[in-house]
Amino acid sequence: MTAEQAGWRTEGTARFRVGEAFFRESSRIGRDLAVLAAAAYKTTHQRLRILDAMTGCGVRALRYVLEAEADYVWANEGNPDLHAQLSQNLEALPPERYQITHQDANTAFFACHQKQDFYDLIDIDSFGSPMPHLSTALWAVKLGGLLYLASTDGRTISGYAPEKSVRMYGAYARFNPIPHEQGLRLMIGKVAQEAAARNLHATPLFSYHHGEVKRVMVRISRSRAGAKWTLDSYGFIAYCYRCGHFQTVSWKQLGRVTCPCGAAQAPIVSGPLWLGPLHDVEYLLEMKRVADTCLSVSSRCKPLIETMCAEAELPPYHYKLQEIGSRGRIDIPPRDQLIARLQLAGFSAARTHLSSEAIKTTAPMAKCLEIAQQIAGEVAQSRSPLE
Ligand SMILES: C[S@@+](CC[C@H](N)C(=O)[O-])C[C@H]1O[C@@H](n2cnc3c(N)ncnc32)[C@H](O)[C@@H]1O
Ligand SMILES: [Zn+2]
Repeated sequence: MTAEQAGWRTEGTARFRVGEAFFRESSRIGRDLAVLAAAAYKTTHQRLRILDAMTGCGVRALRYVLEAEADYVWANEGNPDLHAQLSQNLEALPPERYQITHQDANTAFFACHQKQDFYDLIDIDSFGSPMPHLSTALWAVKLGGLLYLASTDGRTISGYAPEKSVRMYGAYARFNPIPHEQGLRLMIGKVAQEAAARNLHATPLFSYHHGEVKRVMVRISRSRAGAKWTLDSYGFIAYCYRCGHFQTVSWKQLGRVTCPCGAAQAPIVSGPLWLGPLHDVEYLLEMKRVADTCLSVSSRCKPLIETMCAEAELPPYHYKLQEIGSRGRIDIPPRDQLIARLQLAGFSAARTHLSSEAIKTTAPMAKCLEIAQQIAGEVAQSRSPLE
């Protein structure tokens, strides 16, 4: 019988069996990015202790030790029925480098705090929203350490369940064309606000949306002059259904939001949410350096990190090419050409990892339409027969 027939699989340098555990093969890039961020942390801090709070079959625990050189991993899994499979998988590690427990994640976090035994990285790979574990995880993470959160809670963040979004994120999520970015920003916003209430500061190192899952890696540090809570990075986004324009809205502007198009109906406001950078470019470059020497991560990571670097500082929304096309009554505009022309016109513009069919830019929607229509006009002219 081959290893594959016996149910063994590999990811990175980890070899494991899934058994009855929940395992998403499609989450590979999310795990690769976590390994790169952990390895970058180990390089700068020379130590790395990780609490993998919802470990499932233990694939992350394995990869954190084998690939990110974690000194120690606490693999916790709420379901004790997974014990036999998990122990068999982790047997590949030196026994002094890991422990397995079966507790509720919150119990594990409380225990860390009680023993004053804080972790460098806490990974919460939950079903649904990670928010029920956020405040406790903040008690367990080391100052300067990292928190990795996952959410599959697509309904709540996309405007289908605004009451639930207030309950989970303390924010009113409305329908607009960018539910995935809105979801990432609701998560980061909630982490930043909870951290700020404790005089801590949360910095997103990377944010990643793929398929059904949103993930954010944040650094939790003590608030200092250089990294402090400001309302510039925690506010609202507004979308005008009449013209498709997005804008940010500060707390002071609430109640008097209008669109430059003069629409009688006020734009739809979502928030509060994170308005700051989606990623920390310096940290991403460190991760890319690790990826250059680390053959175990997917070759898709490096181009993804490059896209993330380019979009990091752009406004907290994006424009879909299809919407630009339909509003401009033209074909879907060519993405890279539109970006180049917006840049020539003096705006910042880039692709976004959130969708290959969208752009991020400092230009207003009206400018995107104008330039897209110019491009369409030029294409039509070049196709028309010579007179
Ligand atoms: C999405 S799966 C984890 C997948 C795994 N991290 C991976 O990358 O393959 C979530 C896991 O968390 C466990 N779980 C759910 N709620 C939990 C809780 N409150 N405390 C601890 N474990 C929990 C589930 O049993 C499940 O195995
Ligand atoms: Zn408008």
